[in-house]
Amino acid sequence: MIKLGVNIDHVATIRQARYRGMPDLANAEPDPVAAALAAERGGASGITAHLRADRRHIQDADIFRLREAIATKLNFEMGNTPEIIRIALRVKPEDACLVPENRAEVTTEGGLDCVANEAALRETVLALQDAGTCVSLFIDPDPEQIEAAARLGAECVELHTGAFANAVGGAQDEELLRLVAGAELADSFGLRVNAGHGINYTNVAKTLRIPHLVELNIGHSIVSRAVFVGIEQATREMAGLLGA
Ligand code: PXP
Repeated sequence: MIKLGVNIDHVATIRQARYRGMPDLANAEPDPVAAALAAERGGASGITAHLRADRRHIQDADIFRLREAIATKLNFEMGNTPEIIRIALRVKPEDACLVPENRAEVTTEGGLDCVANEAALRETVLALQDAGTCVSLFIDPDPEQIEAAARLGAECVELHTGAFANAVGGAQDEELLRLVAGAELADSFGLRVNAGHGINYTNVAKTLRIPHLVELNIGHSIVSRAVFVGIEQATREMAGLLGA
């Protein structure tokens, strides 16, 4: 059975659309922590949140509250910057997923370049691991990136499924094959294989063909469906598609 990590960033996106810049978010809605608890009731095996440098959705206090409140595990998505690393080392999440971050992007658009940033990433991977956090690297399913992730000593890779999700017809099948090959290679290095980005209630079926897949991280489609059915039910439906 594949685990479902529910990314609750876009619950905070909705909150910030109304409350950005307000000093006190105690009564601001919707509360991403309440959403995380409901996602857990719906079958999430973990909660993912990305504290971006521009704080466009999740805020620092959300991360600390999530850490206290959730019963499953926290997957802290983070850019490789000193400020965010300092916060991660205080939060000590079970998992951290290092992602590239670019202020102009709408969401995380490409995978991390582990080859070009190997030296800078090595220090961060070691610091997080020393704090007891299991480190994942969000990468495209390219052999050079997977090899670099293995050299870096990360426990896990999260394969970027964005190109697969955006492709149609035969091109989507080709992207799926890249993910399959990437997962095989990652597994051969002893890396745990997660995947995510752009997965929805329709395309999720094909992702189940990726071998060695441990966890899918899904945000936008679950939060979107939650507008109609609530996040507990939206999570339950997605967990059901994963075989839970
Ligand atoms: N995994 C990673 C590393 C991401 O950056 C994101 C987007 O925040 C996701 C998964 C979830 O993507 P989506 O919101 O498209 O499901």
